[in-house]
Amino acid sequence: MAEQSKIRNFSIIAHIDHGKSTLADRLLEYTKTVEKRKMKEQLLDTMELERERGITIKLQPARMEHDGYILNLIDTPGHIDFNYEVSRSLAAVEGALLLVDASQGVQAQTLGNLYLAMEQNLTIIPIINKIDLPNAHVEDTKAEIVNLLGCEEEEIILTSAKTGEGVEKILQEIIDKIPAPTGKSDKSPRAIIFDSKYDDYKGVVAFVRMVDGSFESGVKIRMLATKTSSEVLEVGYFKPEMVGHPQGVPLQVGEIGYIVTGLKDIEGCRVGDTITSQESKDIKPLPGYREVKPMVFAGLFPKEGHNYNQLREAMLKLKLSDAALSFEPERSEALGVGFRCGFLGLLHLEITKERLKREHNIELIITTPSVAYKIFTTDKKEQIIKSALDLPDPSRIGHIEEPWVKIDIITPEEHIGGIMKLVTEKRGEYKNTEYLKSGGLERVILHYELPLSAILVDFFDKLKSVSSGYASLNYEILDYRKANVVRMNILVAEEPIGAFASLVYRDEAYRAGRSIVKSLKEAIPRQMFEIKLQAAIGAKVIASERIPPMRKDVIAKLYGGDVTRKRKLLEKQKKGKKKMKAMGRGSVDIPTEAFLAVLKK
Ligand code: GTP
Repeated sequence: MAEQSKIRNFSIIAHIDHGKSTLADRLLEYTKTVEKRKMKEQLLDTMELERERGITIKLQPARMEHDGYILNLIDTPGHIDFNYEVSRSLAAVEGALLLVDASQGVQAQTLGNLYLAMEQNLTIIPIINKIDLPNAHVEDTKAEIVNLLGCEEEEIILTSAKTGEGVEKILQEIIDKIPAPTGKSDKSPRAIIFDSKYDDYKGVVAFVRMVDGSFESGVKIRMLATKTSSEVLEVGYFKPEMVGHPQGVPLQVGEIGYIVTGLKDIEGCRVGDTITSQESKDIKPLPGYREVKPMVFAGLFPKEGHNYNQLREAMLKLKLSDAALSFEPERSEALGVGFRCGFLGLLHLEITKERLKREHNIELIITTPSVAYKIFTTDKKEQIIKSALDLPDPSRIGHIEEPWVKIDIITPEEHIGGIMKLVTEKRGEYKNTEYLKSGGLERVILHYELPLSAILVDFFDKLKSVSSGYASLNYEILDYRKANVVRMNILVAEEPIGAFASLVYRDEAYRAGRSIVKSLKEAIPRQMFEIKLQAAIGAKVIASERIPPMRKDVIAKLYGGDVTRKRKLLEKQKKGKKKMKAMGRGSVDIPTEAFLAVLKK
């Protein structure tokens, strides 16, 4: 049985690709948690997609034993969209390994994750990884870390997760520096749920950190927030697969493990909730985690040959392992029935799309993402709209607010000019610059605030291109601020097309409108009559194009002859066209490609 003083709970935090999963593999291997023959690369990345792309999406706990101690690792994702996963795992541990790639130095998400860890008062163990690389800048990276943490150079461990160098030292430091979990074994049991999953055999499994007391199978439990009651069917730990404790052996104070809840519905087992026993009275809930709210919305529609029900089933399944995903049915005249989905960010959207394709074999059409605007109506009500179509009548709108983010960009000094220009174009507000002192190579942290919508579409690509690939970015949602946006409608043959409606900044409406009608002109085939394409704000047309009618040469048959005869024929043709135009008003068939040309802009 685990003695509380011999437990260490920790996470690894790092910028994307700095080697977290590889280091976790080495730790599992060194502690013989996983037999060498079963070891495959990046063992903790369980999803196929994670393995393929080498990025961690879901956190995954693992328990190791070393030198008489129990070491519980919770692997965390490195990408900003999954920050909420990081903060959840950090709340369940006492320490964090801060991993920095020696060839890259401190990067934007190193900072972002470090701030999260500091907020939780975790003990930080600084590590420089990839020292085996020929382009490793170990001394510069050391200087950056010392500058950032205010630690001594000697405290930084040098390692190569590839060769295994330094791994033993890391294990020793975890034991020496990270405090044992506090909490009372004789108090009423309280466990915090940091993740949950639906298992086909076991039902709903809660991933927990025991904060006080203990749980064993047979105990009647209740969840404080959802008020769900059930009975513990099994407790156990992660190796990293689930290993059940024998009957009578509890999950003890300070430990990280799982509880098979006996619930059938994952909704009853909410992340951040506190589990206690039914007999305990007056139990205070543990501070829950920050609730995550979708900040980006987009429409997901099945491509031809895939049906809505298939998509619906798949979305419900995904939701079981991705609490942050939200969706509701949406109908579009062009794309059929699908879902309007809320995401944490663009990578979250992309990963959802990939998982639907790989795990469920569904091809999707995804509409241009937009942010979650807050509408304040004249009767003092507040609502979040998921699409421009939900916008109330302009006479009822008091004002509109949009989410803003705080961004940190780390870049070599020579690219500051280009980056400043880019951020200013995107309505960014400059805050300040910090220097990351490091030997010869001077790098800076630029702090800005800007609207989330500004970084939605092509910001990452542009940032990479103005900095020759060197800049890295971290963002954090800040608050909501007033936005001067209006609804822009697109009319085809004088009929507004719902799917094309969007919210645009008033001062950018003209440019945006022009660009949409232009691309429609290229995508809609000619008809027998002229088609008007217009962008409008309210009744005011701000941009327009025309698709000329197909022309039939009605006078081709005349060889010379009377000029009045010619005129008569042309006159007749004109009349016919007018009639057809009247008939054709609004009845232009817009091909799917034309929708895509606009919706995927
Ligand atoms: P995310 O999960 O996406 O945040 O990435 P990660 O931090 O888990 O990085 P990962 O372990 O996937 O490593 C990224 C790449 O760096 C992989 O190709 C690893 O093989 C490589 N790598 C990791 N550690 C070392 C090291 O010490 N030396 C060398 N040469 N390569 C390493």
